[in-house]
Amino acid sequence: MAKSLFIKTYGCQMNVYDTDRMADILAPLGYAMTHTAEDADMVILNTCHIREKAAEKVFSELGRLRALKDAKAARGETMILAVAGCVAQAAGQEIVRRAPYVDMVFGPQTYHRLPEMVGQAARQTGTVLDTDFPVESKFDFLPEATRVEASSAFLTIQEGCDKFCTFCVVPYTRGAEFSRPPREVVAEARRLAENGAREITLLGQNVNAYHGELDDGGQWGLGRLIREIATIDGVSRIRYTTSYPAEVDDQLIAAHRDVPQLMAFLHLPVQSGSDRILAAMNRRHTAGQYRELVARLREARPDIALSSDFIVGFPGETEEDFELTMSLIRDVGFIQAFSFKYSPRPGTPAAAMPAQVPEDTKTHRLAQLQGLLEQQQIKFNETCVGRDMAVLLDRPGRHSGQLVGRTPYMQAVHVTAPDHLLGTVNVLRIYSAQTNSLAGTLLHDQLDNTRQTGSVERTLTA
Ligand code: 5AD
Ligand code: SF4
Repeated sequence: MAKSLFIKTYGCQMNVYDTDRMADILAPLGYAMTHTAEDADMVILNTCHIREKAAEKVFSELGRLRALKDAKAARGETMILAVAGCVAQAAGQEIVRRAPYVDMVFGPQTYHRLPEMVGQAARQTGTVLDTDFPVESKFDFLPEATRVEASSAFLTIQEGCDKFCTFCVVPYTRGAEFSRPPREVVAEARRLAENGAREITLLGQNVNAYHGELDDGGQWGLGRLIREIATIDGVSRIRYTTSYPAEVDDQLIAAHRDVPQLMAFLHLPVQSGSDRILAAMNRRHTAGQYRELVARLREARPDIALSSDFIVGFPGETEEDFELTMSLIRDVGFIQAFSFKYSPRPGTPAAAMPAQVPEDTKTHRLAQLQGLLEQQQIKFNETCVGRDMAVLLDRPGRHSGQLVGRTPYMQAVHVTAPDHLLGTVNVLRIYSAQTNSLAGTLLHDQLDNTRQTGSVERTLTA
């Protein structure tokens, strides 16, 4: 009999990918995805541990779900309740202890064992806990990924991180770096394209540390992999995230120069502009090296734009350190960023460092930094007015007859266009800009597989 499954996803795009794969693996057991927890037969919280109080938020959500589970039980029905993802990995035992009504707790590396866990949960009382870092790779056991809900799809190619930035929990929750073999990745990309994906975003905690092993024992880095994916019919856009500056190699820079499908937009977290703070963060790059890297990327791809992650108020950060970060933001001209107040994560080295920065200083610095970034974003959006830009129309707009899409720089664009253009790349002339979106008019249809620069005039004649 058909059963319903609700998965609530927190955090990064890798969790979004994992959620889809959990749905794939549970489908043969009769579970179909639903959009609310209310009457679901199984509810999974796919959690994120990067922020402060992540575990507490999970416990309060579990409290709410327990009421739903009890209400179902009173009607003689069951609800399987599960916690997955990085909070499960980091705090599995605590969940079992504090929320014994949870049926299953499992980490990001073991969800391929979900069918067994569901069986076990039905047979036993108490919680099934599986937070191993197994020797086998889950990718060898998952069904083929085909879920494509929009014209843009995620594809996990790499997982884990060996960098141990002193503020970060990822190396502890996601484990050591692992790359999927190119053969597997390319086959998955092909299936996604056959199922309607026009844009593929390659995912990894440290995606450019990718080193996939070939059948003959050789290896491919990310640059080589991107070249291969670009040969697949129907793939008109390639992106990758998240990268680590010290791992950007010549091959990857060359891919930005040579592969037209590789978007001229790169999310390259820098965290700080102060060498002293970068060293304390164990980032393995200086602000100067980051600037040089950006210069080399710009030389390879002059229209490239950058986005980044920043942490303000890392232990020991002075006003002078913070000003160095502000200068770096101006010099590089980031057009977008995610920025955070430093928050101590238990068990990470930075949490025990002296000179923790007061909360109000962090709040003040964050507001300044976000103010500057917003100005730069608005300025960049304004420079787009009057330009012709390639836009992947990927969803219906709020009003009928309207579609919404993304430029190469991830800006949202609203346009009046017929529905049959959904899922295609089109050239739009941009006529207005707001902080978070643009508006354009349709110029040409179906630009798929041509070079999509920010300004497309030169490519349309190429
Ligand atoms: N405090 C604040 N921000 C953090 N990030 C990771 N750990 C912390 C922390 N302890 C931010 C970093 C990273 C992004 C995903 O989250 O900027 O790049
Ligand atoms: Fe965390 Fe990224 Fe540093 Fe790895 S490289 S420890 S994922 S911030």
